[in-house]
Amino acid sequence: MLLLKSVEELQIVLQKKRQKGLKIGFAPTMGALHQGHASLIKKAKLENDICVCCIFVNPTQFNDSKDLDKYPRTEGKDIKILVGLDNDVLFYPTVDAVYPKDLHIPIFDFGQVDKVMEGKFRPGHFDGVVEVVYRLIDIVQPDRLYMGQKDFQQFTLIQHMLQQMQSSTKLVVCPIIREVDGLALSSRNVRLTPENRQNAPIISEILHGLNDWLTNGGSIKEAEAKAITQLNEMPDFRPEYLEIVDGYTLQPIEQMEDSDYVVVCTAVWAGGVRLIDNVILKGGQQK
Ligand code: PAF
Repeated sequence: MLLLKSVEELQIVLQKKRQKGLKIGFAPTMGALHQGHASLIKKAKLENDICVCCIFVNPTQFNDSKDLDKYPRTEGKDIKILVGLDNDVLFYPTVDAVYPKDLHIPIFDFGQVDKVMEGKFRPGHFDGVVEVVYRLIDIVQPDRLYMGQKDFQQFTLIQHMLQQMQSSTKLVVCPIIREVDGLALSSRNVRLTPENRQNAPIISEILHGLNDWLTNGGSIKEAEAKAITQLNEMPDFRPEYLEIVDGYTLQPIEQMEDSDYVVVCTAVWAGGVRLIDNVILKGGQQK
């Protein structure tokens, strides 16, 4: 695996590959790699000639500086994982390389898509995500970009951004990878207390349980209220939001018939750790 820190070196390497007609798949990450990230790399390897993974803990997307400080950094372990996955290129840039002084990032209009859910509770977060993904795509110019469904709102925004850029990069969304007990994999899971870790699978259980409720004719409003009550009943758990929304616009729907793509998204504090999860209830890529 080639490990590159410099933008210029990376671009020279990738330009040569492109000239040979090779296709480039790109998986941006913030490191602390787990099986969720591995699934992106594996798919990128399958669908392209070259897989580029980036590890960059992007400071501009942390609305809480304590969260940035606490973000796990596991460089040695990450490199071993990537080598084990036969990843081709690891781009490991510095903050100055990603954000040179003369950098210009266009302004995108996402309407309400970046204002709801995560956008409401983590002000500024998506500005940082869009900024860094725009910059990384500009550097790597991949044929395909691999992102996880776990960050549903994030990939939806990036899809909107690619459309507005009229970019030729195709976004490929990979399904959520879960522990055997259902907990969605996240770099933050290691920070859960043993008790909260034991209780955390309830989140996915509740989200999946909504399927039965809604197919049996239960209303959306009741479903949301029921799920929030169940989460609040868990000791040390505090749901921030739980919303059943249209999967394209992320706007609330009143009944399942209102959309052909419906998703339930939630963010829950388990002690001091903020967990997010979602389940597609209708249409889309994954049931
Ligand atoms: O999902 C993440 O890990 C990050 O938000 C991303 C897409 C790598 C941008 O920093």
